[in-house]
Amino acid sequence: PSLKDVFADHFKLGAAILSNEVEDPNGPDAQLLKKHYNSLTPGNELKWDATEPQEGVFNFTGSDKIVEFAEENGIAVRGHTLIWHSQTPNWVFYDDEGNLASKELLYERMKRHIETVMGRYKGKIYAWDVVNEVIEIGDRQPNGLRNSLWYQIAGEEFIEKAFEYAHAADPDAILYINDYNTHIPDRRDAMYDLVKRLKDKGIPVHGVGHQNHISITYPSLNEMDMMIEKFRDLGVRQEITELDMSIYSNDSQSYETFPYELQVEQALRYKDLFDIFKKHSDQLDAVIFWGKDDLNTWLRTFPVTRNNWPLLFDERMQAKLAYWALVDPT
Ligand code: XIL
Repeated sequence: PSLKDVFADHFKLGAAILSNEVEDPNGPDAQLLKKHYNSLTPGNELKWDATEPQEGVFNFTGSDKIVEFAEENGIAVRGHTLIWHSQTPNWVFYDDEGNLASKELLYERMKRHIETVMGRYKGKIYAWDVVNEVIEIGDRQPNGLRNSLWYQIAGEEFIEKAFEYAHAADPDAILYINDYNTHIPDRRDAMYDLVKRLKDKGIPVHGVGHQNHISITYPSLNEMDMMIEKFRDLGVRQEITELDMSIYSNDSQSYETFPYELQVEQALRYKDLFDIFKKHSDQLDAVIFWGKDDLNTWLRTFPVTRNNWPLLFDERMQAKLAYWALVDPT
């Protein structure tokens, strides 16, 4: 059975991919994508270092390939991401003299970037991660916000500007704030407070994205439940934007093959997790895996290089127990 059909009454079912996975539009990778997913996210191709590596020099080779493939096959696309502290070229933050850019210069660059990238895909990308990973808890993190170069130059206002420019660039796009570990109460509450401040000011933020890079043992199902429930009264849409489930609980473990007991554990946990997602499907628009199969997962190089089996299809694109637990939970 097709995953997207199984969850059709609840939410879109998606995967992040790289453009090489759609190079051959009839190859095995493309077949798997067409069969199971109705939302795709370019994994790297829409990040600032890919789309505007030098000031005013734009490159859409990779993102065009994915968006065209999606269009031809009636698949929706999520845009990831406009404003982030990572995978962003250094020139963005500095002036000609090599000093930290002024707020005005930063906003000028931000506006052109957002207008150009969103403008190109107007009507083709339904939702955008406007800002990514701005939450950070710690002694030196003001207001629960990451002390990034964006923040150092412009303060919290950079987030407001990003959403305003994005809304102007494509008024129909659903605008997301996206982050990881939003199940941790401090981080979840900092996100909640931020979104509330933004909404109270009339800033067009429409959704909260939960990355959900989790593992077989972490976090608890209850925390995952609370993570979504927390945002109910803010009236925002939500998506699970980058789901994967590492089989490891620390960085020093490494398996040659996927132990059978862990295959079963992973399958049962995916099933429980999707029961929670289904319970919240009135708020949840999509559940997107960060990769379509265990060969194409960033977790084979991050945080260390090792085998990992975090997704629903194995490295030969064969359906795993986790897949069967979701489509046929008997
Ligand atoms: C990852 C990509 O999958 C890798 O290919 C790249 O080297 C680093 O970034 N959170 C995010 C994603 O928001 O953009 C990251 O993607 C994974 C963590």
